[in-house]
Amino acid sequence: MTEETSAPLDEGWSGEGCPMGAFARRSFLQGAAAGLAGAAGGTALGGGAALADPVAQGEEPKSRVIPFHGYHQAGIATLPQQVAIFLSCDVTASNRKELTELFRTLTSRARFLTAGGTPPKVSPTATPSDNGIVGPTVAADGLTVTVDVGASLFDDRYGLSSRKPVQLVTMTPFRHDDLDPKLSQGDLLIQICADYRDTTVHALIDILTHTKSLMKLRWRIDGQRNQERPVGVRRDWFGFKDGISNPSVTDDTQMNQWVWVQPKSAEPAWAAGGTYHVVRIVHFHIEAWQKVPVAQQERIFGRRKASGAPMYAVGENANDLFDPIYTNDPQGLITALNSHIRLANPQTPQTAATSTILRRSYDYDRSFNLQDLDMGHAFNCFQQELKNYTTMQTRLEAEALVPYITPKGGGYFFALPGVRDERDYYARGLLT
Ligand code: HEM
Repeated sequence: MTEETSAPLDEGWSGEGCPMGAFARRSFLQGAAAGLAGAAGGTALGGGAALADPVAQGEEPKSRVIPFHGYHQAGIATLPQQVAIFLSCDVTASNRKELTELFRTLTSRARFLTAGGTPPKVSPTATPSDNGIVGPTVAADGLTVTVDVGASLFDDRYGLSSRKPVQLVTMTPFRHDDLDPKLSQGDLLIQICADYRDTTVHALIDILTHTKSLMKLRWRIDGQRNQERPVGVRRDWFGFKDGISNPSVTDDTQMNQWVWVQPKSAEPAWAAGGTYHVVRIVHFHIEAWQKVPVAQQERIFGRRKASGAPMYAVGENANDLFDPIYTNDPQGLITALNSHIRLANPQTPQTAATSTILRRSYDYDRSFNLQDLDMGHAFNCFQQELKNYTTMQTRLEAEALVPYITPKGGGYFFALPGVRDERDYYARGLLT
């Protein structure tokens, strides 16, 4: 585990050293969240002008643009935007040539949508070139489109089986899972994130419209990131600050150690620069949770509810950047041995290699009526080794949180390396 250096805040995240020393941890969302609030605040300040100035006819709109081209895809080490849609698709292309066409189309749509701009002009009687949901000029609004492949794409349909990422398998159920096949797996996963809901929906419809002859939707989950309450890391539907401890995405050493597949690794050469992406759709039993006394809720997670700080920090405003420390608590009297954070990362030499994943989760609410709330976590994590996730998830089978959550779907995917430039396209290395 590398020591963290404080880095200037940019599209990535910056980290603060840990005041408690020994178990250097990373907690960085404060700065990053402030960045996003700043962006959103711009809106408030400028009453929307700051982010989408009125533009002259045909002139590019001014909104937050996250670069599309790069060695890695955007939407992984990118500060999580406010809104996300995860869609899993089954490919219907009949051969390798059509599959290549699909990836080329996905690339050109993502390249246009993430940059923003004016859709091609067509005669008023022709089929419009854009659905107009975000107005006559498409604003980028911090949109990222991240494309992954699933294990099923490597069956015998396209002759790619010898090129499958070594650890990419179909997700099998863990002990407490109740997986719905209609909400699981898929040939492709497309993660669409942006600052605004309409931007994500506009991109979704655009992408599905342009690819409908070559792929079809399998399942979809829409998520959001809640506001900071009062400051710092956002809270999930259980009311706990969620996303405090994570590798620092501005620390390339850490990212190359824990997230990005490296060249000359056990993985196929084309996979360098990509990463394993786990999506888990986890239903929350909100009604049951709300009856649990806060002291017990805190023992279940291993952190204080109000402050987000570790259990030894009792103050209302204790710092959530403090690290949980277990060296002086072998019996779990302070932080329970079956608490969420202690099982996820026991901080022991035996588990050190399987305790770091990059979490980038969203919360969903699909409740149509109050009787049965359908709320939960679109849990997302990225890691260089899929087994880091599966080993950690297996440890969590024994966690005290089990009675309050039910995993319902999701899958294992491999996020493709980045699209390097105008001539490149998603999965080119895999297909050629
Ligand atoms: C599904 C419901 C889940 C909820 C509500 C949840 C919530 C939380 C909360 C509140 C924290 C403490 C604050 C933080 O450091 O972010 C946390 C930490 C963490 N969670 Fe989860 N989590 C969930 C699922 C998972 C899953 C499925 C995994 C991985 C298999 C996971 C891995 C972690 C890790 C690695 C940490 C940091 C532990 C540490 O180093 O202190 N979580 N989670």
